[in-house]
Amino acid sequence: MKFLFTLAGLAGLIQLVDNGAHCILVAPDAPSQTLAEAAPFPIGFAVSPASIKSNAPYRQTVIQEATSITADVAMKPSRISPQKGIYNVDVADQLIEFARSQKKRVHGHTLVWYIDTSPNWLKQIRDSTDLESTLQTYIQTVGTHFKGKVASWDVVNEAVDNNRGAIRKDSLNTVGKTLFNVGKILGDDYVARMFQYAHKADPNARLFYNDYGQETRPAKLSAIVNMANDFKRRGIPIHGLGLQMHISIDTPNEGIENAIRKSAETGLLIHISELDIAMNPGKKKDFAETPELLEKQYQKYKFVVSTYKKIVPASQQFGITLWGVDDGTSWIPGFCQCLDAALPFDANFGKKRAYQGFLDGLK
Ligand code: XIL
Repeated sequence: MKFLFTLAGLAGLIQLVDNGAHCILVAPDAPSQTLAEAAPFPIGFAVSPASIKSNAPYRQTVIQEATSITADVAMKPSRISPQKGIYNVDVADQLIEFARSQKKRVHGHTLVWYIDTSPNWLKQIRDSTDLESTLQTYIQTVGTHFKGKVASWDVVNEAVDNNRGAIRKDSLNTVGKTLFNVGKILGDDYVARMFQYAHKADPNARLFYNDYGQETRPAKLSAIVNMANDFKRRGIPIHGLGLQMHISIDTPNEGIENAIRKSAETGLLIHISELDIAMNPGKKKDFAETPELLEKQYQKYKFVVSTYKKIVPASQQFGITLWGVDDGTSWIPGFCQCLDAALPFDANFGKKRAYQGFLDGLK
């Protein structure tokens, strides 16, 4: 009985090929798994609702490869509330409806962010009482609207200074633009209060603190971990840490591993929330994709994914989200003002070596 069963199983795995002279046994290619099928945790993409609507291969890639989606900009304050008291939720609602119909999780991004995409009307508020109540109202309104539709929120994005290991107090960014100086106006503990407001609005949503650069900035990493542990001690409702992980093929592996390990030691959910791996960190004008660079990118994707899978306990694995779907629509070239190709899918939605790196990291 056992023998027969094994033979039947074998018949499904091999093909008998008669090449004329003699018969040979050939193992057909293993059926290719998508990232979503291969991963024991959610796989996400940051998406633009317009591309989901109008770009069929983009939409198809998301449907096949992802189990989670994040809006790249559609749920940011500047889009949701371009003017005080006005809430435009239609585009986000349509995206959420797409996610629901495709049975994908939605991760909300983001409620409070100091940077340029905060709407101008909000950035102009200087009075602390006014700003506090405005943000409270925003979080209450938006959190309540999306309650039950989003699984989670990045409550505060990028609040920690790059070098000082403290809450940002700067008023200018590197290109001299005035930023939304929320840390200076509201004081260091504003982050905790934003979590309390978000929890009140949607008590079931998992609430994340999200930031970048933990892999190369030890002071920043410690400040974030200390803040998370302090929140836990004080009963501030934080459930997870988002590591954006906008890195490059040259980012040292030790730093990546250290950031993931130290973050996971908080016991919170860990989301690699915005992964992409640049191949042209030097912004070379004559950048060209070479097999060597693609191979380095393969190695780095494999390292990030395998390290996450190995180090983060299964119960803390919130998932890995890629910041974009394909190299043609990735935000990186616009951001670095340079040529690059940082994602696992090329501009024609072909799978790069990086895609295989992601899959191999999951093994
Ligand atoms: C980026 C979007 O991808 C761009 O389209 C937009 O112009 C700027 O914001 N960190 C974050 C994301 O938390 O929200 C940023 O997304 C990328 C860096």
